[in-house]
Amino acid sequence: MDDATLQEVARRLRGAWKTTVLTGAGLSAASGVPTFRGEGGLWNTHRAEELASVEGFRRDPRLVWEWTLERKALIAGCAPNRAHELLADWSRRLPGFAVLTQNVDGLHDAAGTVSVIELHGSIWEVGCALQCVESPRRWRDPVLEYRSSPPTCVYCGALLRPGEVWFGEQLPLDRLLRAAQAAQRCDVLLVVGTTALVEPAAKLIEMAKSPSTLVVEINPEPSRKAAWLMDVVLAAPAVEVLERLDALLAAAEEEVG
Ligand code: OAD
Repeated sequence: MDDATLQEVARRLRGAWKTTVLTGAGLSAASGVPTFRGEGGLWNTHRAEELASVEGFRRDPRLVWEWTLERKALIAGCAPNRAHELLADWSRRLPGFAVLTQNVDGLHDAAGTVSVIELHGSIWEVGCALQCVESPRRWRDPVLEYRSSPPTCVYCGALLRPGEVWFGEQLPLDRLLRAAQAAQRCDVLLVVGTTALVEPAAKLIEMAKSPSTLVVEINPEPSRKAAWLMDVVLAAPAVEVLERLDALLAAAEEEVG
């Protein structure tokens, strides 16, 4: 990560009218939330098809809920890290700023980020597994332990399901459209802490790509797509890169002031 490249990214951020950030599990790693792939990743030791799919939930809802409540308890003990805080600060200061996150931990919100789209939903939400007509699609539910396991829908008595989007499920169309709008024709796209393997989130990078857009990957282990999809790769942890970019933005503001 050389100074000239960082300076160029900071220059483009300063001049941008529309900046979009796509984040993944690597952003929350410094907060103590486990990633999914790579060293220590959840999918190395847990089976996604059992724990994060409609079929898995149908087979064993109790197992899915146990796993969800464990993760909820872990995340409840985690706080936003400096990278979340800096993105929250930028969301209030930079024009046309949007964060599209694949994370379900709610840490962007907790940091006070103004414009966040939670592509994969939230671990702090639940929904009726039968989508009964009385209930909203999802609602907030910070409960860490239920009296009955698995818990049931307060509206109809069917099973409750965790609010996250599971493998094989479609993202709600309104959410996907808003994310696509944020990605398209942005001046800078920062891709932070994601393997960019899961669709349709990864497609948003391709959507953003244009001759006038700078696509920047921030990841100590750049994704397989780095070589052909990213214009710039800053191969270091998110906190380190965002702190250095923030310092460059602040220095430029002082010069202008
Ligand atoms: P992954 O676990 O696939 O990837 C985490 C990425 O973060 C890797 O590329 C790491 O190199 C990188 N990383 C680790 N520490 C970092 C740090 N300090 N700073 C920056 N990057 C770091 O997570 P995602 O790509 O987010 O889906 O996974 C995408 C989706 O797959 C998740 O949303 C989840 C999962 O199955 C659902 O829940 C539907």
